[in-house]
Amino acid sequence: MSNPAPLLHDLLHDHLLDPSGGLIYHLRAMRYRHGLWAPFHASVAEWLGAWQPRRPRLVIVGPNAGYALPAGFIQRFDSVSALEPDPLARWLLRRRPDAAALSFERLDCLTRPDGLARLAAAYPDAAILFSNVLGQIKAPAENWPTLLARHLGGHAWASYHDVISTARPPQQRQTRTLAEPHSLEATLAHFWTGGEIALTDHETLHLGGKQSCRYALWPITPKRWHLVEWAVHTPSPRTSTGVLSG
Ligand SMILES: C[S@@+](CC[C@H](N)C(=O)[O-])C[C@H]1O[C@@H](n2cnc3c(N)ncnc32)[C@H](O)[C@@H]1O
Repeated sequence: MSNPAPLLHDLLHDHLLDPSGGLIYHLRAMRYRHGLWAPFHASVAEWLGAWQPRRPRLVIVGPNAGYALPAGFIQRFDSVSALEPDPLARWLLRRRPDAAALSFERLDCLTRPDGLARLAAAYPDAAILFSNVLGQIKAPAENWPTLLARHLGGHAWASYHDVISTARPPQQRQTRTLAEPHSLEATLAHFWTGGEIALTDHETLHLGGKQSCRYALWPITPKRWHLVEWAVHTPSPRTSTGVLSG
């Protein structure tokens, strides 16, 4: 099936200096991916290993150079479309050994209110992975949970995304799966104990609904910590509204 062509204002524009990626992100990745970031990347690898969307086609939104994607992940799918505005990231991702079935497309699905609707229409049969991007970009209308539920209820999708970030080091650093959803305060209490936390709220808690309860810590630098959530949505075979699974 051919995809509807995106309109001009829906196209991703190249950027190398974006706050959610760009050259600084590549420099940090060079410095930290095999050390400081490695435990977080192991958590992402575990989450992705357990995610079996049963679709031959995948769309990855915001993969950057694939620093967080485990080796061999891309070749699990017959074809993979990447939506990534950073040209250096695209160049590096293209050179991964598992990238034979990878192509780059230009739809910008995150900056306009109808972006996710356009994504759903352009890739009706694909699974979709939001690769640590939804906590980086403010929802263009309402909030991400509402937009995802409205436009991608019939799609298999998954996301890992920043919930909060802070300069305060956590006391507990292990990945956590909570048996049920907690408030933001109660979720944070599993990692930070005692006293107030000065934080940035990325407004993505329980992005996939009430069963989004898996969390890992990502020290993006030795002085800045992100709490990252993993969410999975599996559509119901009989309805287009879908059910949620953890
Ligand atoms: C925090 S980085 C995450 C990179 C990578 N997925 C990872 O986990 O290491 C966010 C990525 O989203 C990309 N991005 C920014 N705006 C985007 C958009 N509108 N559509 C798709 N990707 C976007 C950035 O270029 C960057 O590569």
